[in-house]
Formats: sequence, structure tokens, C-alpha cells
Amino acid sequence: MTAILDHLNAFAAGKIARSHAMPGAFYTDPALLEIEKEKVFRREWICIGHADEVKTPGDYFTTDLVGEPLLVTRNAAGEVNVLSNVCRHRGNIVAEGRGKRNLHVCAYHAWSYDRDGRLVRAPLMEQVADFDAAACSLPRIRSTVWQKFIFVNLDGSASPLEGRLAALEPQVRNYHNEERHLYFEREEVWATNWKCLAENFMEGYHLDATHPQTLKPVTPTGLCERVPGNGFFSAYKAHYTPESEQRRPFHPDLTPAEQRYSFLFSVFPAFVVTYMPHLTVYLCLRPVDTDHVAIRWGIAGHAETIPAEALAAHVKFADDFNAEDRVKLETLQRGLKSRFYRPGPLAADDLEGTIRDFYDYMARLLTA
Ligand code: FES
Ligand SMILES: [Fe+2]
Repeated sequence: MTAILDHLNAFAAGKIARSHAMPGAFYTDPALLEIEKEKVFRREWICIGHADEVKTPGDYFTTDLVGEPLLVTRNAAGEVNVLSNVCRHRGNIVAEGRGKRNLHVCAYHAWSYDRDGRLVRAPLMEQVADFDAAACSLPRIRSTVWQKFIFVNLDGSASPLEGRLAALEPQVRNYHNEERHLYFEREEVWATNWKCLAENFMEGYHLDATHPQTLKPVTPTGLCERVPGNGFFSAYKAHYTPESEQRRPFHPDLTPAEQRYSFLFSVFPAFVVTYMPHLTVYLCLRPVDTDHVAIRWGIAGHAETIPAEALAAHVKFADDFNAEDRVKLETLQRGLKSRFYRPGPLAADDLEGTIRDFYDYMARLLTA
């Protein structure tokens, strides 16, 4: 534990060359994960889902983030709320799963909360002299919706997300993700560290070797181009081979150049997404433990409704390349535990520079 923190301190201070990968402990040390929960996942903006998951008032879903049960609702005014999903009576979990309802009734003693978390019914509590229902709302967690993605900041201390991403905005504006509709979403758990997946999604070096049939024919490694980040995000363009078919339909605002690449970006620490001309594929990551990551992922596009066969084809495309990544990342996690592993040099900036961007960010936060 001390060794990996020493390494991160030296990295943050510029005393270690930025040319090499991180030691295995970065991905395997349970003590480091506890620090990540406190200094990263509680303090930063974490994407927990897509706004279309709560499309109309009353829609809700539940999730958890580093041990915090969360309830996401859409209220009567059409706003997205992120509430603590823990009953203000004696601490039971209030809502489960997802669905549509205007009242969330705790199953233990039937205290009932509305979509804004206000306690509206508490059976027999009128017998208690100084009972104040207004003081028993579910705590509201700081949240924001950026390009239809729901972000939360558990400790309320992060600088505004919109400001952090202002430099990214012009790069992604023409895709009009805010007009895309959620086609599909699913949750999975993979047996790898959350950072392995965050890094994998953001580097084009593996595309040729890991995805020879699925991605290489359109977005080969050799055509990847890193886009400079600003410490809060990283990005790269996966340019399309000239002979590949145009992906459509796309928004008319997309420039001819933008029609010929996928724009992949990471909102640090744990949200990765690709904007293709015709589709969005995103992954919200949360650590389960050092060896497991929970992935809430989805696909969005421009059509209001999509035929079942077209949807099945999109899901199969994503499932196929995800399966290829999963195999590599689950074996990688085993390799990273070896005491013989010595971190090797990273590839060129266009291919693995985004990994360095991520190391800079993590080292900055973990050593703060
Ligand atoms: S713990 Fe929820 S009503 Fe008692
Ligand atoms: Fe991949």
C-alpha cells in the first residue's frame, strides 16, 4: 500500500517518467480502493445513468455508488432528482429496481415519500407529540444532467461539471446527443478493476489485436488520434477507413470530417462514451471491489422508435466488441497480481496518451 502511494506521489510530483504503465498494485490493492472511494468517487462527478431511464414524471430507478443506495426520480416539474434511497425512519432501503410510481413506500413501516423525497405519510406518527414530517425528507444529492447523462457528486464539493467540460463541448456539440433517444440499457459485472476498463475504452492501441473482426475493419489502431484533454476529460478520434460505409442516419450539423470518425471520451474518473455519427454507446463504471467493476451501459440514437431487428443488430455489435474486451480485461486482472510483473512502456500519444491523462488525474486526486 505504501509502495503504490509512494509511486503515485512521485508520479504526481514529476519524479517518475510518464512513459510507463502503473504497477499492478494500482489495480489490485484493496487499501487503495478505499482511498479511491473517499477521494475520487465521493468527491467527483460520477455518471449513474441516462436521463431517458426516467423519461416521464414518476419514472424511477435505483442504483448504488460506493455503498450509497440512490433513488433517481423524475418529478412533476420534469426535473431529475437523485435522492438517498435510505428511509428516514430506521434506515431501510426504500425503493428497489426500477418502474413508475408517484409514491415510494418503505416496506418496513410504510413511510411514504413523493418524487421529490418529501415524507407524505407516516402511519400512526400523529401519536408522537413533536413529530415533524417536513424534517424527514430523503436527502437530495447534488446532481446535474449533461447531454442527457445523469451525474452525481456525493459530497457536494466538486466544481461545476459544465465548467469542467466547457472545452469538450465544441468537440461534441454537432452530435446533438441531447436529441438522441435511449434504445437500450443493461447492467453487467466484469471481473476486472474499474480502471482497467476505463483505460481500455480510451486507448486505440488494442483495436487491431483485440477486435480484428468487429472494430479494426472500420477503426484500425493506425488511424487513432488523441485529442488533448484538460485534466477533467480525455478524448480521441477513431477515424474511419476510407472504404468503410458511411454510418447513418446522422445529425445534419455533423461536418464532413465528423461524419468520418467516432469521438471517444472519458469524463474522469468513471464515465466513458463513444459518439458515432449514428449512435452513442456509453458505460458508467463503479467499483464493486478491486477485482470487479459494475457497468451500466447503453445505446442511444436519433430515431424516436427503432425496429426490433435494427436494435438487435446494434446490441449485437456492442455485445461482440464488449465480449472481446471482457476476455482481455479479466485475464489482465490475473496478470496484474503477479509479483513478477514490471510495468512496461506505453505506446505513442495517439494510441495510449489518454492512459497517461488518466494517470495524471488519478495521481493528482489520490495524493491530494
Ligand atoms: S424503516 Fe422505513 S418505515 Fe421504518
Ligand atoms: Fe476494446
